[in-house]
Amino acid sequence: MAERIITNPGTRLRASVQVPGDKSLSHRALLFAAIAEGDSYISGLGPGDDVHSTIEALDQFGVIVDGEKIRSPGIAHWRVPTEPIDCGNSATAMRLLAGVLSTSPVKATLVGDSSLSARPMHRLVEPLTELGGNIDTSPEGTPPLKVGGATGAQGNSVTIDVASAQVRSAFELAALNASGPSMIDSPPGFRDHTERWLIAAGRGEWASATAFTVLPGKIVPARYEVPGDPSSAAYLWALAAIQPGGEVLTPTVSLNAGRLGFLQILEEMGAEVEALVTGEVGGDPVGDVKVTGRTLSAVDVAGDLVASALDEIPLVAVVGAYAQGITRVSDAAELRVKESDRIASTAAMIRALGGGIDLRRDGFEVVGTGFLEGGVVETAHDHRIAMSAAIAAMRADGPVTIRDAEIASVSWPGFYETLEAMW
Ligand code: S3P
Repeated sequence: MAERIITNPGTRLRASVQVPGDKSLSHRALLFAAIAEGDSYISGLGPGDDVHSTIEALDQFGVIVDGEKIRSPGIAHWRVPTEPIDCGNSATAMRLLAGVLSTSPVKATLVGDSSLSARPMHRLVEPLTELGGNIDTSPEGTPPLKVGGATGAQGNSVTIDVASAQVRSAFELAALNASGPSMIDSPPGFRDHTERWLIAAGRGEWASATAFTVLPGKIVPARYEVPGDPSSAAYLWALAAIQPGGEVLTPTVSLNAGRLGFLQILEEMGAEVEALVTGEVGGDPVGDVKVTGRTLSAVDVAGDLVASALDEIPLVAVVGAYAQGITRVSDAAELRVKESDRIASTAAMIRALGGGIDLRRDGFEVVGTGFLEGGVVETAHDHRIAMSAAIAAMRADGPVTIRDAEIASVSWPGFYETLEAMW
């Protein structure tokens, strides 16, 4: 697999970058469009392999994505696929699609790559079954998933114990096909994109700060605009933050509160952060973010903040290494079941670069010295580790070699080229 060697450019950063379309919202826009019967339009779809997995999966159900146009026969008339549906590396594709299918007449088998095949899917079984949906996992609770063929889902109320937007969204999309209303509750901190879009479609309402009621019925064709991905922009925010005086502007990114934990962390560490809401898509705020680097000090990250910075925790370790003091992350056991065991792979990355980090069951403690040597990083086939290592490289003393570097295309094809063009 191809490796990349990245060196510190040695000059100060000042850049404005429009990051690619948001991955979470791209999956949702595609599924909302695919459920509806007729032509929907999506602008700004994310270009990553994960979003492509959803597009290819939908093709097997007879939903055609042609540029910005999505033509669907409607969920009731989806074609029954003859082959297993390959969700690639994408848990969002698999979990949301499993939800949609579980209460539909269409039977399908969902499979994934070696990383996705090891991820926990049993967390979907109870909520979807309570609703009246059909879903089966392997005996280990992992893919392949056998879903669909259910008729007569009644709806139900469930409470889940992880703040997982994927599980919530799977349930909520499944609940659209039930005969009566359903409700789901979970701990806070999750990204509430699906809930906001369901409200905009007239298909749901909040019952409390965390409990959401789904009103079953049709989704009609619509136009969706996908803003920039804050989880991609986060790499550039981190890059500005680790260089005193460095500055990055990322226009039109999603400013959903469930996505902004990392900005709060950077601010608490001493970076200057400005976020300006400029609009809304489906009731979900969008805006411009500017981060300016200042002297950084260590921070403690725990509780609800972890859920809203979940995908950015490897970056917290990188920024923590370039700060002064011990940065602690706890309550982050969910990271053990991401694209890699991200507590282990983050620690391995920091150590490979010459940094100090101690592992905890639910997090880590990274020693901030303001300095990393450089070295060779194995990505554990995880896009977020590859990209975090590239950011660490931009301030490291020596070169950083990233093995399996092209895995970054899971969320951001062209990431390294964008970095190079910023100087
Ligand atoms: C996502 C939710 C999060 C996040 C993932 C995308 C989504 O996962 O880590 O990258 O689009 O709903 P969980 O919901 O499993 O926490």
